[in-house]
Amino acid sequence: MKKGMWWMGLLGLILIIAACGSGSSGTEESGGEAGEQQSGETKESSGNEEAAAGNSSEADLEIFSWWTGAGEEAGLNALIDLFQEKHPDITVENAAVAGGAGTNAKAVLATRMQGNDPPSTFQVHAGAELNESWVAADKMEPLNDFYEEEGLMDKFPQELIDMVSQNRNIYSVPVNIHRGNVIFYNMSVFEEHGLEPPKTFEEFMEVADELQAAGVTPLALGDKETWPATQIFENILLGTLGPEDYQALWDGDIAFDDERVVEAAETFKQMLGYVNEDHASRNWQDSAQLVSEGKAAMINMGDWAKGYFSNDLEMEVNEDFGYFTFPETEGNFMVISDTFGLPSGVENEDQVKEFLALLGSVEGQDTFNPLKGSIPARVDADESNYDEYGTDTIEDFREASLAPSLAHGSAASEGYLTKANQAVNIFVTQGDTNRLLQSLENARSAQ
Ligand code: GAL
Repeated sequence: MKKGMWWMGLLGLILIIAACGSGSSGTEESGGEAGEQQSGETKESSGNEEAAAGNSSEADLEIFSWWTGAGEEAGLNALIDLFQEKHPDITVENAAVAGGAGTNAKAVLATRMQGNDPPSTFQVHAGAELNESWVAADKMEPLNDFYEEEGLMDKFPQELIDMVSQNRNIYSVPVNIHRGNVIFYNMSVFEEHGLEPPKTFEEFMEVADELQAAGVTPLALGDKETWPATQIFENILLGTLGPEDYQALWDGDIAFDDERVVEAAETFKQMLGYVNEDHASRNWQDSAQLVSEGKAAMINMGDWAKGYFSNDLEMEVNEDFGYFTFPETEGNFMVISDTFGLPSGVENEDQVKEFLALLGSVEGQDTFNPLKGSIPARVDADESNYDEYGTDTIEDFREASLAPSLAHGSAASEGYLTKANQAVNIFVTQGDTNRLLQSLENARSAQ
């Protein structure tokens, strides 16, 4: 009898210890190795499902983005690891939802925000996406005091601070600058066919004709998610209109039947004549692979593709792949800036601010951006961390006229972008320029 009771006591003790271990979060046990392991597990497993179900995270800090998979996640993972090193007592959940340009994440986020279940912080583009979706709906906290405390006021270009501000309140912290008006190309394919990077649309078509005649797909496209095609069109518009009128177009001050816009649509149609046949079944990484394999020569993709080529495909910049400014956009910079803010109503404000402080710091930005392919948003980052593409782009950014990307949510509201993507998608299959421009005009009047 005595022996039996002793076993029951031990069993009870084991159950109690097990229960304490699995349930703890943010306590001593979640620090150090245990904390890192916990965040590692959520990174791999629980992020998407929890976010999709709209459930609140159990972690102290839930970081929401669409940075999963090749070419996307390395920078974020490095930033989270750095954060965990500095704050082992804060548990982190990487709640990323897959899908380039936020194709799926934005919908999940909208549901959560509407249900008053915001993540602790989330990826949002500077410009309309932040201001018109979330600031206008009173869902974000101003960060002016935080900027003062962290000494950030003069650390970002003023134009960028303006893009994350409304009525003198600053609402998010930019972690990077991506460039959208760049074409990456396979250097051996260009060499083999004796080609030079084209500067004008005319030169682009000549190069593309030569490639096509030689049996190489000139331009890789993966528009399974529509935005890569929209991205090509916005770059053509920037080339045809210049940065001021490009902006005026989205602001409603230039009509879609303006002859330059019609010309841009014709150029778009011509360029689409050079893409791979299976474009509709590929995502951006799959299409970039065509370039790395030499099956296609060029791709217009934001420079997250540079992170993908260098880090995931282990290609050398200026040896295996080269880059040039999208034709006729020299001196202009299509800006895509990923930022993070403080949603209203989150419980753990201080912990969110710790994360924002890290991603806004030189150390955070120089950890994240070399892996992501972007350049730091800060003006005082350490350039020695960046390769030739990075340092070239940092220099271009300083000198260039900036234009906000439509495809990545900065130039116009999310509602407009959704309709623009639909119109472009129909255009890619039907090639009807009038219909494309009419749909874009109608979408604007419906605003
Ligand atoms: C953009 C985002 C980039 C990259 C890209 C592809 O919208 O700003 O950081 O993630 O989508 O998914």
